Amino acid sequence: MTDHLVIAIDGPAGSGKSTLGRALAGRLGLRTLDTGASYRAVAALAIRRGVALDDLAAVASLASSARLEISDRVMIDDIDVTEEIRSEEVNAAVSVVAANPEVRSALVAWQRRWADEHAGGIVEGRDIGSVVFPDAPVKLFLTANVEERARRRSEEGQASVERRDRMDSTRAVSPLTTAPGATVVDTTEMPVDEVVDLVLTMVDAATGGKR
Ligand code: DC
Repeated sequence: MTDHLVIAIDGPAGSGKSTLGRALAGRLGLRTLDTGASYRAVAALAIRRGVALDDLAAVASLASSARLEISDRVMIDDIDVTEEIRSEEVNAAVSVVAANPEVRSALVAWQRRWADEHAGGIVEGRDIGSVVFPDAPVKLFLTANVEERARRRSEEGQASVERRDRMDSTRAVSPLTTAPGATVVDTTEMPVDEVVDLVLTMVDAATGGKR
């Protein structure tokens, strides 16, 4: 586990995690990691290779052997999947891939290595404060009502967002849940600047003002 500053941001689709992460990155000089992109990249590779999603061992083997790189672009096994991971096909497949326990262990290990290599960071997903970095000094759980979340994800549609929420919250392994010690923030009507100020105060409290 990393000793560097990790800010863990969890919450359902469209709750504002990426927007908050981007705004904080500039203020704190930290990189952001969208862990959803790691699950999406494995789903895209499985689709490309014709691997059946219910073949748990085969999908897990892809996840543990594939070379993953996430920065401005998302690359898996040297294939640029940045646009493809937002497709309807990947939206429909990703919750199944993310429910695969061995895929999760491979990607959680990758996410921890990423934070070590980048001297910490702002990491967003579903299980960051509960499983990936349970000792993170700053943990947020963002929420927003489903109409607002669907509006933010308008290209995906409310039915698909609701379906993914259901699968992500009810799966057996690392379901979406508020981590112990996480601060819950409802972003439905809260301007981003206010959320940023709140988090900066939490970072100061956690680091003794040494950011
Ligand atoms: O954040 P997103 O919508 O791009 O995430 C895509 C899927 O990946 C989402 O349906 C849940 C899953 N996911 C997960 O299980 N754990 C994470 N840490 C991040 C995403």
